[in-house]
This record gives sequence, C-alpha cells and structure tokens, in this order.
Amino acid sequence: MGLDELNINALPEHIAIIMDGNGRWAQQQGKIRLRGHQAGAEAVRKTVEATAKLGIKHLTLYAFSTENWNRPQTEVNTLMSLLVSSLRRELKRMTKNNIRLSAIGSLDKLPKNVQRELYEVIEKTEKNTGTNLTLALSYGAREEIKQAVVEISQKVKNNIIQVKNIDETIINEHLYTRFLPDVDLLIRTSGEVRISNFLLWQIAYAELYFTEELWPEFDEQSLHRAINSYQKRERRFGKTSEQLL
Ligand code: IPE
Ligand code: IPE
Ligand code: MG
Repeated sequence: MGLDELNINALPEHIAIIMDGNGRWAQQQGKIRLRGHQAGAEAVRKTVEATAKLGIKHLTLYAFSTENWNRPQTEVNTLMSLLVSSLRRELKRMTKNNIRLSAIGSLDKLPKNVQRELYEVIEKTEKNTGTNLTLALSYGAREEIKQAVVEISQKVKNNIIQVKNIDETIINEHLYTRFLPDVDLLIRTSGEVRISNFLLWQIAYAELYFTEELWPEFDEQSLHRAINSYQKRERRFGKTSEQLL
C-alpha cells in the first residue's frame, strides 16, 4: 500500500501500539527469544521513522508492562540491556529525524542504568519539534489510575482541589499521559485481541486495529494498512451518522 492510498489530511493525531509477538517470531525461526526482541527493536526503528515521515504527532509504544516483571529474570535482564543499547544507538537518528522522546510508567522501578540512559535521551531530544515518541516502560494502566487517585486525594486533603471540582480534565492532568491527547488509533500485533493493561483511560474512544502480523514483521506497509483501516471508519462519538454531515 503506497502513500497515495492514505488521506494525508485525515491522519490520526495519536497512534498507540501494543508491540506483541517477538517470542513467537523467534520460535518460528528456530531462534531464542532474545533474537525476537532484537528483531522487535528493528521494527520499532522502522515504525518510528514511518510515523515521523507521515508527520503524525504522537506515537506511544508499549515496550514493557508492569506484568512483564514476572517473566524469567534472564528475559527481563535481556530486555533491559536491549533497551539501553537501543537508546544509545538511536539517539543520533532521533535527532536527525527531529523526534522527541518521552516515557510513561513506574520509571523508578527500572534499573538505574536504564533510567540514566532514558533520561539522557529525553533531555537531549526535548527541543525536537517533530513526532513525540512515548515509550511505556514498566507501565500499567491500573497503576497509573491508582497513583492519580492517590495524588488527587492528597490534594483534596490539603485543600488544593475541592471534591466538587473533580472532573475528567483533572483526572487527565494526573495521569502519566497528561501531555498527550487521547489515542485515536490503537494497534496490537500478533493476533491477540486484548488490551493487557495498556492506556485504559486514554483509549476510551480509540479505533482498535488487530493484526496477525508478529511485531518483528511490522513495517511501513503495515502501518499504512492500519491507518487505511482507521480512515475507512466513521467516528461517531455517540452521535448519529446524519449529525456528522
Ligand atoms: C512483545 O513480545 C515484547 C514484550 C512484551 C516485552 P513477547 O515477548 O510478548 O512475544 P510473545 O507474545 O511471547 O510471542
Ligand atoms: C503486552 O504484551 C505488553 C507489551 C507489549 C509490552 P504481553 O505479551 O506481555 O501481554 P499478554 O501477556 O499476552 O497479555
Ligand atoms: Mg506477548
């Protein structure tokens, strides 16, 4: 599918992706899971560049969930080292492509060297004005909502917020994603049809797109197919079709 089949004037503003299937891809190739994660990192690079090329403003990638801490320690270590080496390697390219990096999640739970590398790239790309790439790391939507409730409760207790003023805007402002608009298009690869604790609040009206492709297979064409599907849908937000005319 070429660029010409996409309506450049109706692109999603915010795409979020659950990058799943690295392990199964490796298994299909008779390789160890690490190889799948390495190939997955390659797919991240391609997808980020394809997104930037289209001029899409926000891309949020689910890279490591709160539940992924329960994987075997060796796999967790592998994923953390891969993250460090990818961040190091990609800084130059991100700068060249004007990409700004952010991160959401319980970042303090990440190993110190990962935090250092992450904050360094975030700082070095903070003035970039192109695509805003957000990595969800040690991220869980329930944890995010819980901490928002705790922060709001503290503010109520300290008379900074009044209960009668709590609305959706205030809740939004206490989520990790306070700097992001709602998700327009949520993509999940690998054929699994579930959310796995990703952005529960922010996907309330997202268009969902599930593909059988495993994450290491995902490329520019795959992204265009997902956007094409998104563009064929009528987003009614509760209204009738006639009201949208
Ligand atoms: C996604 O691939 C990467 C992470 C969750 C970190 P998986 O590792 O979940 O791959 P499968 O689901 O086992 O194939
Ligand atoms: C979701 O994938 C988390 C990430 C892609 C980072 P998982 O492979 O961990 O999810 P489940 O276990 O299939 O729900
Ligand atoms: Mg998986």
